[in-house]
Amino acid sequence: MNILLTGGAGYIGSHTAIELINSGHSVVVVDNLANSSIESIKRVETITGQSIPFFEIDLRNKLALDEVFKTNQIDAVIHFAGLKAVGESVARPLYYYDNNLTSTLALLEVMADHKVSKLVFSSSATVYGSPEELPLTESSRVGVGITNPYGWTKYMIEQIITDTAQANPDFQATILRYFNPVGAHESGQIGEDPSGIPNNLLPYVAQVAVGKLELVGVFGDDYDTPDGTGVRDYIHVVDLAKGHVAAIENIKAGTSVYNLGTGKGVSVLELISAFSKAAGKDIPYEIKPRRAGDIASCYADPAKAEAELGWKAEYSIERACEDSWRWQSQNPNGYAN
Ligand code: NAD
Ligand code: UFG
Repeated sequence: MNILLTGGAGYIGSHTAIELINSGHSVVVVDNLANSSIESIKRVETITGQSIPFFEIDLRNKLALDEVFKTNQIDAVIHFAGLKAVGESVARPLYYYDNNLTSTLALLEVMADHKVSKLVFSSSATVYGSPEELPLTESSRVGVGITNPYGWTKYMIEQIITDTAQANPDFQATILRYFNPVGAHESGQIGEDPSGIPNNLLPYVAQVAVGKLELVGVFGDDYDTPDGTGVRDYIHVVDLAKGHVAAIENIKAGTSVYNLGTGKGVSVLELISAFSKAAGKDIPYEIKPRRAGDIASCYADPAKAEAELGWKAEYSIERACEDSWRWQSQNPNGYAN
């Protein structure tokens, strides 16, 4: 298939481009580079030996997007594009609602105009809000306890896609709810490149390890978890990328939803310890107050993806830390080297 990757220059999109190409597909990338660099695409081209048509456009620009569909044969779309910083979404809600929702509406309209009916969407475990039960299955309750506009955009886009598929019997949609993506490509050439101070744990730990930041603040050690620190389901980004290949190759009519996680919870202290081992150095940390909006534990039941897509996560947290350290130590300033 020739697959359009919206937001394909970003962290997950760039890793997915590699796995799609490795599986015999070709990709076209649209990205406004709001949170990424063209360098990631160049490196994907080097790793795969394939050239990738790239269009620097904002997805909300329907005319420009229409032109991409006119000039390229698009068989399917994977929609990664979106803003994702939870704290920023609280401070700038309209910016988040406009960017994430308007771009999805524009994409769906242009897809309809060009009779493209296969869509995979990057959703998040954030739609489960505060979990009623663990592990989370795809039929666990959603929408209660979502604490930020970013999370609401994911919830709303899931609904928009479901309604679109409902109204169009030919439409085939797969919603992937990612748990916590971490790690990097084994080449050390591509990885997560957050702008400014990282919000997420693993890139923060990586920057402490490389000496850019002083110490990791551990947000709370009094949760109801084995060591008192927050527990998450960290999934290697290459496993996640392979999940997209499985999703697009098994897409079917209507809307299907899959958790992409490992099924295993890892605490903040366990992650710091695994990274410390991978980097071969101590990583200083300090216990801080809880972060507003955080939950104690969140991990997936990934059985549905295995049963229906034939996909399951294979890499360990240790391997994710090793790959992340390779990327971080070889590219201390990310793509800006
Ligand atoms: P990322 O920021 O690296 O990639 C997103 C890309 O979308 C960026 O390259 C950005 O420039 C682009 N983009 C944003 N708005 C755009 C617009 N209006 N037009 C064109 N391009 C636009 O993030 P990522 O980690 O690769 O995440 C990809 C998707 O997965 C996002 O939708 C994100 O919300 C979702 N997700 C990410 C995580 C995570 O922890 N990384 C977890 C769950 C879900
Ligand atoms: N944490 C720290 N110190 C830090 C950063 C994080 O102790 O500097 C802790 C958090 O309190 C949490 C864990 O590390 O217990 C993971 O935090 P992240 O910010 O890395 O990830 P979250 O699970 O909070 O958030 C992620 C995505 C969101 C998404 C959410 C739910 O970043 O986009 O998962 O799916 F909404």
